[in-house]
Amino acid sequence: MNRIGIVGMGFMGQQHFAIYQGLDNVEVVAVCDKNPTKIAEAAPSIGGNIGEATELDLSAQARYVCFDDMLAKEELDCVDVCVPTHLHAELAVAALEAGCHVISEKPMARTLEDCDHMIAVAEATARMLFIAQCIRFWPEYEALADMLSSGELGRLATAKFTRQSPPPTWAEDGWLLDPGLSGGAMLDLHIHDVDFILSALGKPPAVLSQAANLFSEGNKVDHVVTSYLYDDFVCVAEGGWAMPGAFPFEMGFQVLGEKGVLDFSLAKQPMLTFYPSDGEPYSPEVAAGTGYERELAYFVECMENDQPPERVTAQSARESVAVVMAEQQSAQTGEVVELD
Ligand SMILES: NC(=O)c1ccc[n+]([C@@H]2O[C@H](COP(=O)([O-])OP(=O)(O)OC[C@H]3O[C@@H](n4cnc5c(N)ncnc54)[C@H](O)[C@@H]3O)[C@@H](O)[C@H]2O)c1
Repeated sequence: MNRIGIVGMGFMGQQHFAIYQGLDNVEVVAVCDKNPTKIAEAAPSIGGNIGEATELDLSAQARYVCFDDMLAKEELDCVDVCVPTHLHAELAVAALEAGCHVISEKPMARTLEDCDHMIAVAEATARMLFIAQCIRFWPEYEALADMLSSGELGRLATAKFTRQSPPPTWAEDGWLLDPGLSGGAMLDLHIHDVDFILSALGKPPAVLSQAANLFSEGNKVDHVVTSYLYDDFVCVAEGGWAMPGAFPFEMGFQVLGEKGVLDFSLAKQPMLTFYPSDGEPYSPEVAAGTGYERELAYFVECMENDQPPERVTAQSARESVAVVMAEQQSAQTGEVVELD
């Protein structure tokens, strides 16, 4: 049985907590949040952009307001880091140095220096470091990745990804809306598509981004459109959280190859449809569950089998942060930015 402590019991910490209850080989033995109301025995639920808000019963867990206390007093196999992004590195490193495996929410960290520090400490301590890039595990995106790798779409022509939402107002002290802490919509939300694009299509030679702000100060980070300048197909992603409050969260893609187009949108019914160049459209079978459930189940299995997580290496999660940084540079300068 893998003993887990979750730090940060906001939107994502609560989602993770609820998912672990349904998994084998894992037990959440402790939870920590600096805000005591979030770890009350019956903790109020928090809504976010996706997933159910659920009432939590934390009566069976040890509950801490101080992370160092949780690390010192509990015998944990793994710490699940669900705190604001600018704190990922500090808490992940402390957990690794205490001998725990770490699962950390995406984006890996607020800066590349922090990403590198996390990777170095994971290597030095020989502990697993898994970054929760959930879209790689999201069933419809897995279906797309499978079609791309099997050649079912044929030669690729265009790939278009979108992710848009109202501002994330649930965050503790409004940290998500402070680009200095979260990196804005580009690093927090749009990175999901960046990470998927890199994992499924490989790294493009360069990016060209345009971005806009509606409420953030300074660098434009609220809404971005990026062209990934591959040599042989067109790839674009649009992402942002500047939509009005009533706008429903949307994620989707349209990927067109010579054998057809795979179309996915949360707003459509059915959500996933393949329109072949020849023949009738149909909805491909997808795995059950959400990307959140599937990524946590995967990492628990990695711990159980003592196998480093190959589906998301820490280095690949760092690469996604690096590409977002290149996009920010492009958006500020108006120039194409080459990727090394
Ligand atoms: N995978 C996804 O789709 C997804 C969705 C939303 C958020 N996230 C990521 O999850 C992380 C958390 O985001 P959230 O939306 O849950 O934010 P949140 O504000 O709802 O939750 C963060 C929690 O951390 C607590 N906290 C802050 N500092 C702490 C400390 N030093 N010690 C203990 N607790 C502390 C806060 O009190 C708060 O309850 C972020 O990195 C975010 O990017 C991922």
